[in-house]
Amino acid sequence: MSQQDLPQTPVIAPSMLKCDFGNLDAEIQKLETAGAATLHLDVMDGHFVPNLSYGPMVIERIRERTKLILDAHLMISDPEKYLDEYIRVGCDWITFHIEAVPEPTALLKKIRDAGRLAGIAINPGTPVDRIAKLKDQVDLVLVMSVEPGFGGQSFIPDAIQKVAEARALFPSETLISIDGGIGPATIPDVAANGVDVYVAGSSIFDQPCYETAIREMTSIASSNSPPRQ
Ligand code: DX5
Ligand code: ZN
Repeated sequence: MSQQDLPQTPVIAPSMLKCDFGNLDAEIQKLETAGAATLHLDVMDGHFVPNLSYGPMVIERIRERTKLILDAHLMISDPEKYLDEYIRVGCDWITFHIEAVPEPTALLKKIRDAGRLAGIAINPGTPVDRIAKLKDQVDLVLVMSVEPGFGGQSFIPDAIQKVAEARALFPSETLISIDGGIGPATIPDVAANGVDVYVAGSSIFDQPCYETAIREMTSIASSNSPPRQ
């Protein structure tokens, strides 16, 4: 995917961790109707994080069912080993963790060379400084606002300052994404500091109407965002 294919920001990215996988067709259909532009795919290996989710085979089935942007968040210890698979099954954005790959230059380049957006994620305990050297190598910075591994946790307020630091440090075209505990109550403060992509699990899937939830959060994000430069 090229920069021209970027969706209009702000983007609310439903985290599929909480979707009903027994009714995948219906869930994707509902999210498309609700106006979602991307689907956030949380890949967990039971090693980098203390939980397991799904991998390329499930993503391949999702890919067959939608043209929406697939935003893969790899919470795995060895993304290098599996990267080709995530590219092959059609992930558009591929984000892995700096804590898993301390020297990520080659891996980021490989993602870009495949025509996908390259993202780097930082856990709550990792300072933004750790990724400063990647300023020209990434298309997306994902700031974790919970410890990765589970949906439904409370937002960690330190993430607000980290968003501000990332926004100041990275070029304006770099997408800043926030993940964990995001919903109508937590969006205003992070929006004001320059988030583009809001990953939302519980605040969409625990609601009776996905469309209402996405519309409300998009509106809160828009009205609290500074103009994009
Ligand atoms: C957590 C995942 C998140 C999670 C978000 O490790 O990266 O994407 O599903 O869920 P909520 O929005 O419920 O915090
Ligand atoms: Zn995630």
